[in-house]
Amino acid sequence: MLKGDKVGLRARHDDDIPILQSELYDDVVTQARANGRPWHPITPGSKDSQFAVDDKERGHAPFSVVDLDSGTLIGSAVLWGIDDHNRTAHIGLGLLPSARGKGYGTDVVAVLCHYGFVVRGLHRLQIETLPDNDAMLRSAEHNGFVREGVLRSAAWVMGEFVDEVLLGLLAEEWKPAPKNRTGA
Ligand SMILES: CC(C)(COP(=O)(O)OP(=O)(O)OC[C@H]1O[C@@H](n2cnc3c(N)ncnc32)[C@H](O)[C@@H]1OP(=O)(O)O)[C@@H](O)C(=O)NCCC(=O)NCCS
Repeated sequence: MLKGDKVGLRARHDDDIPILQSELYDDVVTQARANGRPWHPITPGSKDSQFAVDDKERGHAPFSVVDLDSGTLIGSAVLWGIDDHNRTAHIGLGLLPSARGKGYGTDVVAVLCHYGFVVRGLHRLQIETLPDNDAMLRSAEHNGFVREGVLRSAAWVMGEFVDEVLLGLLAEEWKPAPKNRTGA
């Protein structure tokens, strides 16, 4: 498990999937805003769930997020589009509604930076989000991500094209938290 100050990032367990599916995926509006793909209903137990894991997929590192003190599942996090030639990847995360606004998101981004830069040896991490997703923007900026530009009308979200903000962080700019994050 990778550990931050408040969160642990561990492998996905089978019994995480129905919770993530109902609390994250089945919230159509949040899902449409957070994920560039069109929402459609997924049958419970389906292997087509975005939370189902293919351990052979090397370009995609999915985690379940747990509260470090209690071990309770609080969300999902991923390093996706891992490109070992250009040494880049993208960050994605979603917390259960009851876990939002408590500082977990900022800590999840910190742990994903540790995973990307230290464990995977990447050079650049990137986040795309909507301009009004203040919690995501601030979680990224608290970890040193800078706004690099706006992708105009890049996302179709619930009936309209909206802009996306592109944020990036380079390995040499990253300032890790002083404590060590350990694997176990
Ligand atoms: C985006 C998300 C991961 C952020 O995690 P979080 O735990 O809620 O964020 P934090 O509690 O760490 O807060 C980060 C900052 O955003 C602020 N913030 C939190 N919720 C906010 C809200 N609803 N509106 C405005 N600011 C907010 C916090 O005050 C904090 O800033 P501060 O430290 O300067 O005060 C989480 O809200 C979430 O899962 N949202 C739904 C899915 C989603 O949007 N995923 C990202 C898709 S790109």
